[in-house]
Amino acid sequence: MQNLLVLGSTGSIGRNTLDIVSRTKEFNVVGLSCKSNIDELSRQIEKFKPKYVCVEDSNLAAVVRERFKDITVFEKEEGLIELVSLESVDFVVNAIVGSAGLSPTYYTLKNSKKLALANKESLVVAGRLLKKIANDNGIEIVPIDSEHSAIYQCLEGKKKEEIEKLILTASGGPFLDKDFTSATVEDALSHPNWDMGKKITIDSATMMNKGFEIIEARWLFDIKSIEVVIHPESIIHSAVEFVDGSIIAQIADHDMRIPIAYALFKPKRVSLPFKISLSDVGKLTFRKPEFGRFPTLEFAFEALRKEEKNLGLILNVADEIAVESFLKEKIKFVDIFRILEISLEKFEDNLPSEIDGIKEMLRDIKVKVLELLKDRFWRS
Ligand SMILES: NC(=O)c1ccc[n+]([C@@H]2O[C@H](COP(=O)([O-])OP(=O)(O)OC[C@H]3O[C@@H](n4cnc5c(N)ncnc54)[C@H](OP(=O)(O)O)[C@@H]3O)[C@@H](O)[C@H]2O)c1
Repeated sequence: MQNLLVLGSTGSIGRNTLDIVSRTKEFNVVGLSCKSNIDELSRQIEKFKPKYVCVEDSNLAAVVRERFKDITVFEKEEGLIELVSLESVDFVVNAIVGSAGLSPTYYTLKNSKKLALANKESLVVAGRLLKKIANDNGIEIVPIDSEHSAIYQCLEGKKKEEIEKLILTASGGPFLDKDFTSATVEDALSHPNWDMGKKITIDSATMMNKGFEIIEARWLFDIKSIEVVIHPESIIHSAVEFVDGSIIAQIADHDMRIPIAYALFKPKRVSLPFKISLSDVGKLTFRKPEFGRFPTLEFAFEALRKEEKNLGLILNVADEIAVESFLKEKIKFVDIFRILEISLEKFEDNLPSEIDGIKEMLRDIKVKVLELLKDRFWRS
């Protein structure tokens, strides 16, 4: 039995991971973490009986300590680092949202633990460094994102020189065929196919999520030839084109428990009740993305072209702040694109090669983007 740590266990991916874990007897949950949702965390503690938890908020960590006297409660980012460094941990699922996931990804790899990664932001911010640590320590970063899980499965047993390009599919989000000039928060949160956390749902509406996935794919698979194809049915999760013109794709229902289970059990396939019938699906459609309406895709390709720069980091920080401001109705939906564009223009720099330098740059860019929003975008 492997000792599993689920970071971000109270979120959408975290809860789905625990659902998969509870269907089998192959994992012992030794640790869980959240930011502030201690009620959900408490339910999970009762059910999975972990020895350790981490709560980002110190006051709420104290409440959990009072509630559960027999477990160790860590707090803040330092607590996450302690958790992933515990000798008893074999396998880490990182399902934290945002750049807060960077340190736990880094120290999981540093400590040579197995890693299933949902936190794409880690790779967007520091892909080169994380891949280097993973390679140095002989650790594979196994993706949870459905697109990257699909590509991972299509690539099994294939050689790099056989690959023509990676094909990332995208549903197109709620604004595929709809005007978004005066989109409300509710409009942007209405994803046609997937039920996800709020941040990634808004990122799907702007297509910044697909942009992040382009950067994530580049680092996971060490391939820069990447095409994005709009596929509104979200049944083909992504594909790989080979040099002989063949395309291999992975097809499944849109339920994140399928790629999560694959990341946990690969190469074994476990029995799950989420089946689709191709004859019921009937028709699958594909089209090119509208780069003009969704400049976020071009921002990501620009980050790939200049990968010694910090453009992935800027996109990530600016997007986190812009999305949070949009959810609080401080800015308009269309402002998100403009904030990303201005941030890329104003804050371009070289990316440090070490973790402390990258973390410092994250803090610095955050301050600068917040100033930009306060000065030019926030509505009083
Ligand atoms: N949801 C999906 O279907 C999906 C698909 C592919 C990839 N992903 C990726 O998976 C990751 C998680 O997404 P999600 O949709 O599951 O997000 P979510 O539902 O918002 O959950 C995020 C989790 O992270 C915790 N968290 C938030 N901020 C934190 C911080 N500063 N420090 C420590 N923990 C923090 C949250 O705790 P609280 O609950 O206490 O706030 C929660 O447990 C993201 O990187 C996303 O891009 C998600």
